[in-house]
Amino acid sequence: MNNIPFLDLQRLHRSIDDEVQEAIRSTIERGAFVGKNAIAGFEERFGAAHHTGSGAGCGSGTDALTLALKALGISSGDEVIVPAMTFIATAEAVVHAGGTPVVADVDPVTLLLTPETVDAVRTANTRAVLPVHLYGHIVPAVHLRHWREEGLIVIEDAAQAHLGTTEQHPVGSIGHAACFSFYPGKNLGAFGDGGMVISADEAVVEEVQRIRDHGRTSKYTHDVVGYCSRLDGIQAAILDVKLRHLPEWTAARVAVAEHYRSLIGDRLVPWNDGAVHHLLVARFDDRDAVQQHLADAKVATGIHYPVPLSLQPWLATSTPTCPGAETAAQEILSLPMDPLMSLEDVDEVTQRLDRALRPV
Ligand SMILES: Cc1ncc(COP(=O)(O)O)c(C=O)c1O
Repeated sequence: MNNIPFLDLQRLHRSIDDEVQEAIRSTIERGAFVGKNAIAGFEERFGAAHHTGSGAGCGSGTDALTLALKALGISSGDEVIVPAMTFIATAEAVVHAGGTPVVADVDPVTLLLTPETVDAVRTANTRAVLPVHLYGHIVPAVHLRHWREEGLIVIEDAAQAHLGTTEQHPVGSIGHAACFSFYPGKNLGAFGDGGMVISADEAVVEEVQRIRDHGRTSKYTHDVVGYCSRLDGIQAAILDVKLRHLPEWTAARVAVAEHYRSLIGDRLVPWNDGAVHHLLVARFDDRDAVQQHLADAKVATGIHYPVPLSLQPWLATSTPTCPGAETAAQEILSLPMDPLMSLEDVDEVTQRLDRALRPV
């Protein structure tokens, strides 16, 4: 029986090796390691891929969230609502920006924030909401618009949602900003860390570009306290190569996800059109046993995420229970999802899953 990996990054990188080597070589030759000129082309093309102006590259997805929160004026005393089912970075960024994260439950089926779950924890101090496009499933446009109309700052956590759309609107075009991660395993991943903020408001992008680079207005003039959180030239060059392939890889992810849906749709966390399938997540009452059976059958799986924010030690005391996220955390299992996976591989995963579920 062959191993079915969760994501085969080596295979993906082999498929573009010549282009990547050439991009690295050319960056080294130009000495374009750090600084605006080294990454401006990629920032522009990444923004254009989301139908907006130039983005602002930075050191990681976590920093993208922190810098966007700061650029949009979040400060001490401001509460920012984050979903209970996400990676810890969504809440960490709020603290780093000086605000207070307030955890809201997610819809028990979609595992995304909704107006109802947000309203349940909203107070007079709520300034912003950080909807997460979890698994590459996009929070519906109607919800994003609703929060804006209610006067909240909306920062989309698009770490898992490059090229995602809702009702044909790209991520980041309804919220005040969207923040991306280029962590290696993401849909668009660097050969290290990286992140990006995009916004329809150029002033937000310019402010992120200023504070990511020591708050400088000229080489040695710094009118605010900034950070050293720059996307470097080699990562930008690699990401630029991968961005050219991203539409085809995203279409492949959609085809893989649709094939899974045709076979085991009733078990999957559902999605709407425009999803980009960073992860393919199923639910099982006896998740741990299923995961073990699949491991024995050489199918690699993951859990995203086993500990919701409402149960994270540093957040738990300030957070009421979140039954939607906490129940899901016991049941979710991420199955192999890879843009170069064949539909036959998907058949194989679901057949091995079928055997795992059959009573002995
Ligand atoms: C939803 C979400 N938000 C934020 C981040 C943080 O991104 P990074 O690891 O690039 O800091 C991640 C990455 O894992 C993520 O999945």
